[in-house]
Amino acid sequence: MGAQAFMSDIPTVPHGSIYQRRHAPTRRWTPTQADPRGQGRIRVAAIERAAVAVVEQARPPALRVYDQIPMRGEDLIQQVRLVAPLLADRAVAFVGDYDSASALMGLLGACSGVPCPTQMLVLDFDERVLATLEMLARRYGFADRLEVRRYNVFDPVPRELVGRYDWFYTNPPYGASNRGESARLFIARGCELVRPNGQGCIILPDDAGRPWTRRAMMATQQFLTEYNWLVGAKLDEMHRYHLDDDPHLASSLLLVEHVADGNDLCRIMPYRGRQVRMSEIPHF
Ligand SMILES: C[S@@+](CC[C@H](N)C(=O)[O-])C[C@H]1O[C@@H](n2cnc3c(N)ncnc32)[C@H](O)[C@@H]1O
Repeated sequence: MGAQAFMSDIPTVPHGSIYQRRHAPTRRWTPTQADPRGQGRIRVAAIERAAVAVVEQARPPALRVYDQIPMRGEDLIQQVRLVAPLLADRAVAFVGDYDSASALMGLLGACSGVPCPTQMLVLDFDERVLATLEMLARRYGFADRLEVRRYNVFDPVPRELVGRYDWFYTNPPYGASNRGESARLFIARGCELVRPNGQGCIILPDDAGRPWTRRAMMATQQFLTEYNWLVGAKLDEMHRYHLDDDPHLASSLLLVEHVADGNDLCRIMPYRGRQVRMSEIPHF
């Protein structure tokens, strides 16, 4: 479906009539009495499918050399359904976003009133990705919520961005050959971007049939715990990818939370505030 067709086909979902938001600790969309037969759900599902088609068609060709391996469309919808209510009305920093979860949330928020962050910053080193997200934001009316910035995770986080966000969101390179260290560089950058007691949404594989994912997941959970980040939830086998050499590789969703205490100052997270040399992360 083309972009114009998408716009004209979008019915407006009355805010709060089909979904209601429950607030902390768990915020999710739930059908309400206003829609007992679930017809609104079907209509929303059609909007979601149209929106993901717009995003997929707009994205530049994926470059494997940049680890751009897009999540399957239906899984991206599930992912956004699950996390959008948590990120709603929050400031969110995306560390890399070829998947374009930010755009899907912005598009659905602007066109159908589903929950959406108030502020989204996308950091990525690929200008094509940033230009596409900006174009979608302008065309579909969420430019006031989305900002993009060219950034390479090997560089220090720009000072003015440190500690500014409520959440970080990352679907990083998984680091199959370095026990997940590539992912931990993205995660560490995300941790720098959020305020004390901030939260993070991390997508990583964890599969007993693929021992490298288990080793990487163990190391990443140890890393998070060591630096006062609590894994509050982990949902396995949530997403699959357009990945020729391993089409069944699935990733998990981890929701993490910083627990600020006085000891934080003694444990400075690796990579914090500095340039990282390529040689520090072999097989990136
Ligand atoms: C590494 S990919 C991970 C796969 C994920 N499914 C995707 O395609 O978005 C995530 C994003 O990180 C970006 N990226 C890769 N290396 C980067 C780097 N050194 N600095 C900043 N962004 C990077 C890619 O351009 C991509 O948009």
